Amino acid sequence: MRRGIILAGGAATRLYPLTLTVSKQLMPVYDKPMIYYPLSVLMLAGLREILIITTPHDAAAFQRLLGDGSRLGLAIDYAVQPEPAGLPQAYLLAEPWLKGAPSALILGDNIFYGNGFPAMLRAADARDEGATLFTYTVADPRAYGVAEIDAHGRVTGLEEKPVVPRSTHAVTGLYYCDGEAPSRAAALTPSPRGELEITDLLRGYLADRRLAAAPLGRGIAWLDTGTHASLLDAAHYVRIVEERQGLKIGCPEEIAWRLGFIDDEALDALARPLLKSGYGAYLLRQLAAGRAPRTAMAGPLAAHVHG
Ligand code: DAU
Repeated sequence: MRRGIILAGGAATRLYPLTLTVSKQLMPVYDKPMIYYPLSVLMLAGLREILIITTPHDAAAFQRLLGDGSRLGLAIDYAVQPEPAGLPQAYLLAEPWLKGAPSALILGDNIFYGNGFPAMLRAADARDEGATLFTYTVADPRAYGVAEIDAHGRVTGLEEKPVVPRSTHAVTGLYYCDGEAPSRAAALTPSPRGELEITDLLRGYLADRRLAAAPLGRGIAWLDTGTHASLLDAAHYVRIVEERQGLKIGCPEEIAWRLGFIDDEALDALARPLLKSGYGAYLLRQLAAGRAPRTAMAGPLAAHVHG
C-alpha cells in the first residue's frame, strides 16, 4: 500500500522575515495553513498513512495542528530533518517508516487544484514499479526541474534549474516512486550546490527506463508560494475560486468526510470549534447538504467514493 510523505522543512530564506520564527508551510494561504493543500492532495490520492517531515524547531507546531491524524481518519507520523540537505533526504528519513512500500512525496509548499487531478493520482498509483513525475507548462521554467518530453509523451531528459531550459515542462513537487526510492537516494552524491537533488534521483529511474511523466493540463492550477508576491497570488487565487463557488480548496476536514474517512458526527465535532472564523460554518453547510457528488469531486473520484 502506497504511503504519503510531506516534506515541510527547509529554511525558506526567500520569505524572510516572515519565516524567521514560523515555518513556511504553516503560513496562511488565504484561509488555511499552507500544509493543508498538500495534505489534501495526498488524501484525494486515497492515502491515509502520512509522514510529515519538518525542521527540529517546527515539529511541535505541526503536531499541535494535525496531531496523530485520527481526527481526519488518517495515521500521521512525524520525522525531523536536522538540516535542509536536499529533497531526496526525505526518502532516507522515511525509509524505516516506509518499510519498502511505494510512496507519494509532495513538497509542503506545492498547491495543486483542478478537475481531473484525483483521477491522475489514481492512475499514477496504479503503476507499481518505477516513478511518475507530474509536469506543468510554465512561462519561465528556469526556477524548476525541467523535463524534455518526446512526441510519445516519454521523458527523454531532465535538468535542475537550467539557465537555458530545453522545454517549458516544469517538474512539479509531487513524486510517485516505488519502494526503491530510499536505496536510490542513498546512492546519490551532492550536487555542486551541496545538496542531494531530486532530479538526480529521477534521472536514475529515467536511465533504467522506469520513469513516466503525467502532464497536468491547462485545467489544473499549480501554484508557487516561494516569494512574498507568489504567496499573495496563491492566496488571491484560493479566495477568488472559493468565493465564486462557495466551495473550499484544500479543505482536509471536508475531504476526509466526503471520502468516508470520517462520519457525520466526526465532521460536526471538527466544525464546532471553528465556527467563529466561518470555516466551521462551511463544514456544517457541507454536512447539511449531504455527500451528494455535486462538487468538484464529482467524476471518477466520486464514483470511487460513492460507488
Ligand atoms: O516546486 C517544484 C520544484 O521543487 C522542482 O521543480 C525542483 O526540481 C525541485 O528541486 C524543487 O525546487 P525548489 O527550488 O523549489 O526547491 P527548494 O530547495 O526550495 O525546496 C522545496 C521545498 O522543500 C521547500 O518548501 C523547502 C523544502 N525543503 C527543501 C530542502 C532542500 C525541505 O524540507 N528540506 C530540504 O532539504
